[in-house]
Amino acid sequence: MKARYTKTAKGLHWLMAVLFFGMLGLGFYMQGLPLSPDKLKLYSWHKWVGVTVFLLALFRIAWRVTHQPPALSSSMPRLMQIAAHAGHHMLYMLMFLIPLSGWLMSSAKGFQTVWFGVLPIPDLLEKDKMLGELLQTVHVSLNYLFIAVLVAHIGAALKHHFIDKDDILTRMLPGSGKDKS
Ligand code: HEM
Ligand code: HEM
Repeated sequence: MKARYTKTAKGLHWLMAVLFFGMLGLGFYMQGLPLSPDKLKLYSWHKWVGVTVFLLALFRIAWRVTHQPPALSSSMPRLMQIAAHAGHHMLYMLMFLIPLSGWLMSSAKGFQTVWFGVLPIPDLLEKDKMLGELLQTVHVSLNYLFIAVLVAHIGAALKHHFIDKDDILTRMLPGSGKDKS
């Protein structure tokens, strides 16, 4: 099976990966800081980039729905194929739900997001302190779930490359080979 991901699929995959790693790091770092103007600035950046990631996730999902990825090798056990597809579905859902939960949380807490200090983003909910706190728990929990799925995702990619020695990792990497599907 030689089919590889297209340049667009690879570009979107690695762009989102970098953004998510950055946002996870920023999220955990900023919320542990003592209250200061710097902390508030980091919160703003987290929200600005987060809304951008939300829009990119919508684009990525729309693109994925209209473009078939390369098929998995038929020699791969059926159970493993199902697990791979389920894992990818989870990642797509979390890519959408994590920034959405952040946006809903900020709205319910009454902190409107002004995108890069220029464009006010509509609040999706009325101000409601209790709901804001609940959505904060949802935002944090989804992030932990994402980390767990991501560990499995990266582990699977490395296992394919170093143990099974197949082309699952290389077909997602930039570089040589004909980008087909
Ligand atoms: C790529 C998308 C996002 C990721 C990966 C992400 C990740 C995180 C993480 C890891 C935390 C720290 C959780 C903790 O308290 O331990 C956090 C907190 C937070 N996030 Fe996000 N986030 C994203 C998008 C957003 C968006 C779009 C908004 C709002 C528009 C937002 C608003 C917030 C706020 C306000 C907090 C601080 C909550 C607190 O005070 O504890 N996030 N985020
Ligand atoms: C070091 C980090 C990562 C590595 C090594 C990695 C590796 C891979 C590989 C090898 C594939 C192709 C699987 C196949 O051929 O069936 C893939 C697909 C995928 N990855 Fe990652 N990935 C990483 C990070 C991420 C992150 C952070 C996300 C989410 C934001 C993500 C979401 C996805 C999704 C949704 C697919 C399925 C693409 C599709 O077929 O539609 N990956 N990844």
